[in-house]
Amino acid sequence: MQSDRFFDVTDELVAITGVSGQLGLQYAKTFLDRGARVIGLDKVESAGARELSRENPSRLLNVTADVTDRQSLAGALAIGTEKFGKAPTVLINNAAIDAPPSAPIEENGPFESYPEQSWDLVMEVNLKGVFLACQVFGAAMAAAGKGSIINIASIYGMVSPDQSIYDYRRARGETFFKPVAYSASKSGILNLTRYLAVYWAKKHVRVNSLSIAGVFNGQEREFIDAYCGRIPVGRMADKDEYNGAVVFLASAASSYMTGANLVVDGGWTAI
Ligand SMILES: NC(=O)c1ccc[n+]([C@@H]2O[C@H](COP(=O)([O-])OP(=O)(O)OC[C@H]3O[C@@H](n4cnc5c(N)ncnc54)[C@H](O)[C@@H]3O)[C@@H](O)[C@H]2O)c1
Repeated sequence: MQSDRFFDVTDELVAITGVSGQLGLQYAKTFLDRGARVIGLDKVESAGARELSRENPSRLLNVTADVTDRQSLAGALAIGTEKFGKAPTVLINNAAIDAPPSAPIEENGPFESYPEQSWDLVMEVNLKGVFLACQVFGAAMAAAGKGSIINIASIYGMVSPDQSIYDYRRARGETFFKPVAYSASKSGILNLTRYLAVYWAKKHVRVNSLSIAGVFNGQEREFIDAYCGRIPVGRMADKDEYNGAVVFLASAASSYMTGANLVVDGGWTAI
């Protein structure tokens, strides 16, 4: 392989779950900028995702799909395969949920009373959703004998959340703990990745995870100060700072890499 072809993704058809979100949209843009075609899957189509598909009608197809529903994923695969005339060659499992602002108060309360239904919901989307998308899209890749699956994990799947970051909330009288289910779901992704990397190795489907740290998104000042005080590089990530890693994992630049966890975290897990 010529070294100038290492990062070439022009022949790739990239399926991205959670395309309407902050990072999914960035991944879609970066692959479109590099000449790839994209199938964007999400439960809802955001204004940003709609605009991007208007700008790239022949190369981006947004499909409404729920990662917790196998039929819905199979339908999205069929629609995408029909439009582009081939099965996806890259899958980015990016859709996930964390505790939303509207979450019941117990969701950010003590572990001892963390709600069972919150655990089930987070596991359903973040872990079962990845499992189902791998079954549906990975099967098509294995049948075609080519594919790269990128499972988006998190620093909180490698190490515990640092609860001291949220001291500022406790100081103002709140009971606040970063909840357990998100961490458990993201660590589950790491070994689902290794399992599938071995399972599909001979079918030329590579499976890797990408563990990332917090992205600046207008969070409150106290949070940013606490977070930046904890992270070696002293700042949160910009929303486009994981694009290089997904292009690397999708392309021939990582052709000998499978079952790995690529960590892009500003040094968070180095401490
Ligand atoms: N943003 C961060 O700071 C950060 C840090 C570490 C890891 N991550 C991970 O990066 C990924 C993207 O994060 P983000 O900040 O862009 O999140 P986001 O909330 O902006 O986007 C997530 C998207 O997933 C979609 N989604 C949720 N449930 C779905 C379902 N059942 N089916 C289909 N789509 C569904 C949502 O509609 C949303 O568009 C996630 O896996 C997240 O855990 C993010």
